[in-house]
Amino acid sequence: MCGIVAAASKFNVINILSDGLKHLEYRGYDSAGIAVIQDQKINRYRKEGKVVELTSSLTDNINATIGIAHTRWATHGKPSEENAHPHVAEENIAIVHNGIIENHIEIKNKFFKNTTFTSETDSEILAHLINHFAHKNNTLDSVHLSLQEIKGSYALAVINKKNPGQIIVARNGSPLLIGIGDQTNYIASDAHALIEHTNKFIYLEDGDLATITFENVNIFDKNKNKISREIKKSNLSLKSSSKEGYEHFMIKEIFEQPEAVKATIQDRIINNAVPKEILGPNVEKYFSKFKVVQIIACGTSYHAALVAKHWLERLAGIPCHAEIASEFRYRSHAVQKNTLLICISQSGETADTLSALRKVKNEDHYVGTIAICNVPESSLARECDSTLITHAGPEIGVASTKAFTTQLTAIMLLVIVLGKNFEITKDLEKSLCKQLQGLPEKIKSTLALDAEIAELAKVFSDKEHALFLGRGSHFPIAREGALKLKEVSYIHAEAYPAGELKHGPLAIVDENMPVVAVAPNNVVLEKLKSNLEEVKARGGKLYIFADKKAGFKNDDISQVFEIDAPMNPVAPILFTIPLQLLAYHCAIIKGTNVDMPRNLAKSVTVE
Ligand code: F6R
Repeated sequence: MCGIVAAASKFNVINILSDGLKHLEYRGYDSAGIAVIQDQKINRYRKEGKVVELTSSLTDNINATIGIAHTRWATHGKPSEENAHPHVAEENIAIVHNGIIENHIEIKNKFFKNTTFTSETDSEILAHLINHFAHKNNTLDSVHLSLQEIKGSYALAVINKKNPGQIIVARNGSPLLIGIGDQTNYIASDAHALIEHTNKFIYLEDGDLATITFENVNIFDKNKNKISREIKKSNLSLKSSSKEGYEHFMIKEIFEQPEAVKATIQDRIINNAVPKEILGPNVEKYFSKFKVVQIIACGTSYHAALVAKHWLERLAGIPCHAEIASEFRYRSHAVQKNTLLICISQSGETADTLSALRKVKNEDHYVGTIAICNVPESSLARECDSTLITHAGPEIGVASTKAFTTQLTAIMLLVIVLGKNFEITKDLEKSLCKQLQGLPEKIKSTLALDAEIAELAKVFSDKEHALFLGRGSHFPIAREGALKLKEVSYIHAEAYPAGELKHGPLAIVDENMPVVAVAPNNVVLEKLKSNLEEVKARGGKLYIFADKKAGFKNDDISQVFEIDAPMNPVAPILFTIPLQLLAYHCAIIKGTNVDMPRNLAKSVTVE
C-alpha cells in the first residue's frame, strides 16, 4: 500500500528510482513521483496513473546522486498529480510517506493556519512540519521533532536541499528497509525494489530513524540513541520478480503452484510425520497448554482461515474460531482460557491483522501466537512466537493465488502438529502426509484444465453477476473463487453455502445468472446434488467443478469440469485452481488490468 524507494549514491540515481518504482507498483498505482536534489535545488516529477506515465515523461537531463520516489495507493485525496508524492515545503524539504497521519488536521490548525497546502493528502503535513523545525535544527532533529507531534503510521523518507548528500528515514507501522550497496545505499518498502542492486538488507523496526549517505548508514531508536541492526542476506532473485515469459504475474503465479506447494512441505515431512520442531523453539511455550485456537486474517487469507477451522475441528478435534481481523480488533471477546492465536497473512504487513495481534497477544488467556506468512522478515513473522513460512516465493499479482494454496498447505502441516495432542493418530498423520506429498502432481494435472476453462470464460465473461456454491470446507473455496472473479474481472460474484440457497438467494437465480458449484466427492455430495437440482429447476446455468467420481454429467443446463481430487481432506487446495483460472481468463477477455486491478493494492498497510 504505497511503495517507497530512495537512494544515496556516488552516481546518478534516476534509474534506481524508476526501476524500483516499477517493482513496487503492485503496492499502489494511482500516481507516481520522484524528487531529486540537483544543482542545489529540489526537482520534482509527478504524474497521475501508472509508473510508466511518470518514467516515460522523464528527460535525460536528470543527473542527481540523491533522490526519493513513491507509487501511491490513494487514501486521503483522490488519485491526481497534486496528491502524488513527493510532497514539498518551501522548495527546501521533500518527503515520501506510506501510512496515515491521523492528526493532520490538528497539526495544521496548530502550526500552519496561514499556510497554503497544495494537496488533499494527510502526508503533505509532514513536509511542512519538518521544514518548520528545519529552520532551527538539522534534518535528523527536525524529523525527530516532527514525529513527536504526529499520531499514525509511517514509512518516511526525507531530503533537505541544505544537506544534499543525506536521506533521513523513519518507520512506524509501515514496512521500510535499507539496502546496503557499494558506493550506494538504498531505501525501499520491500526487497524486490532493490534486489538487482543488493541482497544485503537492514529491516527497520517501529520507532527507528536512520540517516543514509552513499557511504554510511546510521540508525537511531525513537529517543535518537544510536543503535545497530543486523544486516541480513536475502535469497530473493531477480527471476522471482519477473514474468519469465508469461503475459501476467497472475498466470505465472497460478502455474507456479506445484513448485510453491512442494517448497512449502519440503523438509517438513520426515518419515510420514510432521515434527513439532517446524514451529521453532518457542513451540514449547504453548504446545502442551492450548485448548482452543483463534485464527485472524483478512481477504484471501481469511478464506484460508475458514478452511483451517474445518480441518482443525474435523481432523484434530480442536475447537477453533476464525474471524476477519478488522472485525476482531474492534470488538470485545469472551476469550476461552488457553487460546492459541494464529495469524495468517501473505505479506505479514496487513495493518488490521497486525493490530489485532498486538491488541491481544499479551492478554492472559492467550498462551501463544503463530504466524503463517510468506515473508520471513515481515512484522507479523517477527512478532509471533512461532512462524510457519509459506514458501510461495514473491507474489506480485495483486490477486492472491499461490499464497493461498501454500497457506492451506502450511495449515495442514500445522493441523497435523497441533493435532498430536488431540485426535490426530499416527495413521491419520501418515495419510495426511501422503496426501500433501501427492499435491504438486495433482495440482499439475488440475492446471491442465486451463484451455477448457479459457473456453468457458468466453461465455462467462459477459455476465454481470455470478453465484458460487460450496459446502463444508469447500464453501471457503467458493468464497475465494467469487473474490478472485470480482477482483480481476469486476464481475459481481457472491458465494453461498449451497444449503443456504433456498433461504433467499434462490430468488436471484434465472437464465442470466451463472452458478458455479464446487463439488468434491465427500459426505455432503448428495446434499449438494439436491441443491443444484433446485438451481436447474429455476433455469440457472450450472458450471460444476466436480471430482471425477462425483457422478456429474454434462446436460443442457450443466457443464461439468472434472477434477482429480480424491475424497480426502486436501481436496479444497485442488478445487481452488480452476476458479483462479476462470477469474484470470474472464479478466483477459474483459481487458482489465489483471495484475493491478482498479482501486486495489497488495499489502494493505493502512486500516
Ligand atoms: C485477494 C487478496 C487480499 C489479501 C488481503 C490480506 O486476492 O490478495 O484479499 O488476501 O489483503 O493480505 P495478507 O494476506 O497479505 O494479509
